Amino acid sequence: MTDGSHGGTMPSEEEIRRMTPEEAMIAGAEVDGVRIVHRRDRFPIRGTKAEKRAERGVAMAFIVSALAGLGFIVAFIAVPFRWHLPGTAQNFKYYTPALGGLLAIMLIFLGIGMVLWSKWLMPEEEAIQDRHDVPSSEEDKLLTEAALIVGLEDTGLPRRGLLMRSLLLAGGAMATVPLVALVGGMIKKPGDKLFHTLFKPNPKMFPESGGRVPIVYSDWRRVSPDDLEPGGLATVFPGVRDEVNGYNGVNDASSPTLLIRLKPGQTVKPRKGQGTFGWPAHNPEYIAFSKICTHAGCPASLYEQQTGRLLCPCHQSQFQVLEDAKPVFGPATRSLPKLPITVETGKDGRQYFVALSDYKEPIGPGFWERP
Ligand code: FES
Repeated sequence: MTDGSHGGTMPSEEEIRRMTPEEAMIAGAEVDGVRIVHRRDRFPIRGTKAEKRAERGVAMAFIVSALAGLGFIVAFIAVPFRWHLPGTAQNFKYYTPALGGLLAIMLIFLGIGMVLWSKWLMPEEEAIQDRHDVPSSEEDKLLTEAALIVGLEDTGLPRRGLLMRSLLLAGGAMATVPLVALVGGMIKKPGDKLFHTLFKPNPKMFPESGGRVPIVYSDWRRVSPDDLEPGGLATVFPGVRDEVNGYNGVNDASSPTLLIRLKPGQTVKPRKGQGTFGWPAHNPEYIAFSKICTHAGCPASLYEQQTGRLLCPCHQSQFQVLEDAKPVFGPATRSLPKLPITVETGKDGRQYFVALSDYKEPIGPGFWERP
């Protein structure tokens, strides 16, 4: 034995190596000025019914926690989360409560399992400890190692397989849940829906127009070439309304479109492959572009008809309409997508605009930037 640097007498290295882990842990505690005044194994006889019952109770809490974690993942993927038109089923309202409730159950039962474990299965212990701040000696390190070994023994994990497995389950669920939230976008694949707007041809809804989608104002009136003065502009939408599936062209965030009538003498220098997207197809007088700014998605609609410039008020990007809405100033780097349009004759004999097809490029902000 040698003098301990902090509290009791320090056993020699040889003495420590001869001790059981528990004896070494108690000796180490004393050297550190920690006096264990009471220590009792709750189940001195291993494998009794009472011990197994306690173990099952703790495991049950972990299993409930794991099931709630699993439920969270299922709810994240399967519970409807979309808003639908007024008057249709609004079942998205269960989405957030379901996720929050299951997450709470997972964490609460993991905590309950931990508390029950320490209350029901780990040895009772009371200790009084002094504080010290001297660097650790080799003996200190050995004693700390012994304390850790006894601590692991006390948890019962090495011999309690059920507990170990249920804890791993609950821990796995706990680790997976934040992962699901982080990579959720990849779990719920958007498919190609980000590449389409409601201008996508719809033969079922518009068989008489060959599936081409009528272009309408926000009050659902159809848009006619006569409506616009030369140099004029209007915000228009796809005339698609499907109450059952919750589609509404006028409310759809991706579909607002600017229809522009050029002034006499103005011509457009088109992008490659888009020379016939206006109306008339050759030497067009009317052209239509997405209203969603390609920088950060604000509505770009301040049109200066003399110069043909379109300004986005959010960060002052400017698009040159006479060059097919090419960005000429500000942070936007991609042209506004162009909508292929033409006219058809309505039942009243007037001409009305329809979209020949959907936009050929994804609408919206610059994260769609492509080489
Ligand atoms: S959103 Fe249009 S310039 Fe930034």
